[in-house]
Amino acid sequence: MADSKTILMLPGDGIGPEVMTEVRRLVDWLNRDRGLSFAVEEGLVGGVSIDAHGVPLTDETMAMALKADAVLLGAVGGPKWEGIDFEIRPEAGLLRLRKEMELFANLRPAIVFPALADASTLKRQVVEGLDIMIVRELTGGVYFGEPRGVEQIGDGERRGVNTQVYTTSEVQRVGRVAFELARQRSNRVCSVEKSNVMESGLMWREDMTALHKAEYGDVELSHMLADNCAMQLVRNPKQFDVIVTDNLFGDMLSDEAAMLTGSLGMLPSASLGAADANGRRLALYEPVHGSAPDIAGQGLANPIATLLSCSMMLRYSFGLDAVADQVETAIRNVLNSGIRTADIMSDGMARVSTGVMGDTILRELRKLAG
Ligand code: NAD
Ligand code: IPM
Ligand code: MN
Repeated sequence: MADSKTILMLPGDGIGPEVMTEVRRLVDWLNRDRGLSFAVEEGLVGGVSIDAHGVPLTDETMAMALKADAVLLGAVGGPKWEGIDFEIRPEAGLLRLRKEMELFANLRPAIVFPALADASTLKRQVVEGLDIMIVRELTGGVYFGEPRGVEQIGDGERRGVNTQVYTTSEVQRVGRVAFELARQRSNRVCSVEKSNVMESGLMWREDMTALHKAEYGDVELSHMLADNCAMQLVRNPKQFDVIVTDNLFGDMLSDEAAMLTGSLGMLPSASLGAADANGRRLALYEPVHGSAPDIAGQGLANPIATLLSCSMMLRYSFGLDAVADQVETAIRNVLNSGIRTADIMSDGMARVSTGVMGDTILRELRKLAG
């Protein structure tokens, strides 16, 4: 990596800063010991930004995100900010980042580390060896559709509205990401919607089928209704390779998939935009989990989802596959050695804090690097 690359770190709220601290140490080590030259900037997003500036994301921080080579985010939200206006809640800061950076493809890989096959609430044989990729559409659907809002309609009645909207090009651009990924994996895509109830779901299915026929005939495409998919994910998750679905179904199915891996604290994600003429692609990396107010400030958070998100960054934004492989190997080895945070703890294992888990992974990485 000849030139210095800029990483914008947005730790956010709750356990966000706790898990981001471990990532910061990893990046500092890559700079110091591995000859990389990442320039790290920091900013505020979510509740901490509301407290400091009255909004969950300032225009200045938005501009920094658009300029950065990659953004790493911890988590946003928490009970402190629950009562405030919808448009300026902590979550709105994250949604603005996704929308203005046009990060339409959210990759959420659910991989079961061998040492954690018993950490899932499901039986070992159901999850052992699992490696699936959920591709969630991230800038459309009911999250952003208009009209939206709550209106008074008289007699004390209110009417709450959100709208599911997709266009063909939105379906097809996320479909392309899924088909391309499948070609590097087991070559199977399952497209998930509710085409039995929603017109937009039927359109999704038809557009995905047309795209498949026109450009990806070599990939196996199947379709599944979202409710069945939720069931199949716990019945037999290994039937899937790549799942492609809309914003809302993708949100729910990825939390469900997280539990197959043992904990929400294990699931990373990459949110990617389209490559521009120079091949530059905006990207944001974040764990799938939230700010976990119930455990914040106690050193209980599992930093692995965020460390794995950093590893996805090394891979997808900087082409540093060998370094990313090493980070993942270090995590696998540490888990094999019996070190566990509370969320993945089981009998006979050694329970450690967020910081000690981060430390141990970094020490293992130093060893692997020689
Ligand atoms: P959550 O993901 O924060 O927590 C759900 C459960 O998982 C909690 O019991 C929590 O302790 C546990 N958990 C989550 N991450 C963990 C980790 N790294 N290690 C160990 N345990 C972990 O979801 P929630 O409680 O429904 O939401 C809390 C807040 O977070 C809300 O304000 C929500 O909007 C926000 N949220 C933000 C993001 C994000 O920033 N990307 C994602 C989801 C939720
Ligand atoms: C996620 C989160 C977000 C979402 C919230 C915090 C806006 O749950 O990234 O999964 O719903 O997309
Ligand atoms: Mn979610």
